[in-house]
Amino acid sequence: MSLQVMILSNHMFDVIKGDLEVLEEELLAAVAAPVELVTEVGTHLVQSGGKRLRPALCLLAARSGPQFDMKHALPLAVAFELIHMASLVHDDVLDESDTRRGAPTANAKWGNQVAILAGDYIFARAFDLIAGEGYGDHVSKRLAQLVCNLSLGEIVQDSAVYRASQGEADYLDRIRKKTADFLEICCELGAEVGGLPTAEQQKLAEYGHCIGMAFQITDDVLDIVQTTETLGKPAGNDIRQGIVTLPVIRALEVSPEAEELNAIVTDPEMTAEQVKRALEIIMATDGVDFARDRAEEYLERAKAALPEGLPRDVYEAYVMVADFIGGRDF
Ligand code: FPP
Ligand code: MG
Repeated sequence: MSLQVMILSNHMFDVIKGDLEVLEEELLAAVAAPVELVTEVGTHLVQSGGKRLRPALCLLAARSGPQFDMKHALPLAVAFELIHMASLVHDDVLDESDTRRGAPTANAKWGNQVAILAGDYIFARAFDLIAGEGYGDHVSKRLAQLVCNLSLGEIVQDSAVYRASQGEADYLDRIRKKTADFLEICCELGAEVGGLPTAEQQKLAEYGHCIGMAFQITDDVLDIVQTTETLGKPAGNDIRQGIVTLPVIRALEVSPEAEELNAIVTDPEMTAEQVKRALEIIMATDGVDFARDRAEEYLERAKAALPEGLPRDVYEAYVMVADFIGGRDF
């Protein structure tokens, strides 16, 4: 079952089901451009699906506030998904990926030039949409910081490939920039446009940060424990790409075969056999359990951060999201 089907068959977003249907229409409208090719690429991207986790987190927060107005919150939620979409389009160019979510990537379908330019267009549309909505400087500032961090996270990751000297702190900083900041800002700004008090905005920001950290750690664990068939992409992909994740960092610390593992993960020319061997060495240590425990700690912190005063259905939806991330084994 795909992640998206799992999400839809899970009831965590029932409370904003109607909002998410409107969001889909707005996403299609947002990618309609005066140049047919750009509309075509944008429509393909919207229709290729996605979990819509970022706008959902934003809308749940906005709904909790005394000033909630869907018309006012919607452009922000759409902007979050557009920024996410644009970043993935660029990421797929960088990674030379052919498929995402089971559909061909923009670069595979139209080539790198069109993919980069369509990504730029979609990215700019996000800022176009929020301009004039009266969200205030803080919202624009946080969105700009988000994109700065996404770009920095990618650059740092890129410059650290095939380098096994990274510790846990480097790893956590990298995944914060790459994933957690995004979910944090979705919750925080959703709360802000809904008119929740600053203290509650901060608590929801902490929730978003923690589920983001847990989400990425879980993703990185799955890359090691899953088979290629269930993952939808080759297992051990991160190792192959030289991306050093938490189970590897732990295994390098505790494995009696650390030297062999180190030699494999730092070798850009590693063979498929060596990737298999690296996975074996990692699996013989507590690296995966260690990382899963870290993810679990973040999820506990996330749930503890949820403001007590949230509407019951929103509170439960946020708890379900955290449990869903923790229970993810696909
Ligand atoms: C996917 O992660 C990629 C990201 C989280 C960020 C990509 C960011 C950029 C390319 C820079 C920002 C650009 C714009 C236009 C906002 P992954 O590679 O770990 O996951 P994957 O396996 O799904 O590719
Ligand atoms: Mg990628």
